[in-house]
Amino acid sequence: MQPFLHLSEHDKEALTSTFLKLSTNPYSEYLAFKEEISHLATSSALPDALTSACERILVARETGGEAAYLLRNCPLDPEVPVFDQDDPVTDKYRQKRTFVAEGFLALFAELTGSPLLAYSTRNNGDFFHDVYAHNRYRNTQTQKTDGELYFHNDRTAHPVRADYLALLGMRSDPRNLIYTGYIDGRDILRLLPAHCQEALRQPLFHTPYDEYSRDSNTLQVDSKPHTVLEESHCFRYYDTRTRPLPAAPVEAWDAMLALKDALVRTTRQRVRLGVGDLFSFPNQAGLHNREILELSYPVQARRRWLLKTYSFRSPEYMRRFREAFTTGVDGFVYDHVESAFAA
Ligand SMILES: [Fe+2]
Repeated sequence: MQPFLHLSEHDKEALTSTFLKLSTNPYSEYLAFKEEISHLATSSALPDALTSACERILVARETGGEAAYLLRNCPLDPEVPVFDQDDPVTDKYRQKRTFVAEGFLALFAELTGSPLLAYSTRNNGDFFHDVYAHNRYRNTQTQKTDGELYFHNDRTAHPVRADYLALLGMRSDPRNLIYTGYIDGRDILRLLPAHCQEALRQPLFHTPYDEYSRDSNTLQVDSKPHTVLEESHCFRYYDTRTRPLPAAPVEAWDAMLALKDALVRTTRQRVRLGVGDLFSFPNQAGLHNREILELSYPVQARRRWLLKTYSFRSPEYMRRFREAFTTGVDGFVYDHVESAFAA
């Protein structure tokens, strides 16, 4: 994929020094951190190249244009520590003392009008996650695996799902060929016959939660019955996991096979996320995966680190889910108890 923006060295350095001056910790004092970033977003000191790119992304997404974007040469922390792979999140709290990458992701969300989303049962409720190998989740279909991931959207089984995902490359060895694949929902739709689309729009399917979700919340075992196709071209699907319900009619099985065929035939974009690359793409109006084409340095692959955020499409859209924000923090889904939301 061609980058939409390649920040100049000057702009990157200016942004890095701005984020190094942040006085709050995004993990222990998120609301204060968010306020610092909101203030920064209105400041005239930001590079024009960044603000105008984000404005164009916002407009394109609102008007049905291109939805997936790659930004290169983004600001990162001067120190990028290696974490203990038995408990990388806790080790991150200990070792990461600057928040340049978190600041940049939060600013990008602010400038593109897409407020961040977090779950109380995910990464201790953090708004910033790590795609980082965790020993316990080796060979699983979770964000903590070091293996491949089939086409999916994140939190498929959860009733509150992000509209956009952002991945920021913190550490990535270019000698390993690890790709993030992306398929636009509009391209899938073109390959699905009308009667299959109709069946996929019925609540005839279910998706079990992944191992990481089940470990962190015993209420999260299986989704409620759900549709696979929503709105114009949003897909709620995890390949090999989403299935028709046991009592579903044969039309549901036919439609699922048609969707699997479409995923094989559809053109996909591939991004090899390097250090300082930001890839922002729809979580529902498209599907993504992880492909490992060549592992020259497996030890380095296990230390690959992408910092990640979930976000809503707009502040107005986020408010539809306000009943799930029971602690009163916008975007923070409290799911230690079963959500009031129907799946
Ligand atoms: Fe994912």
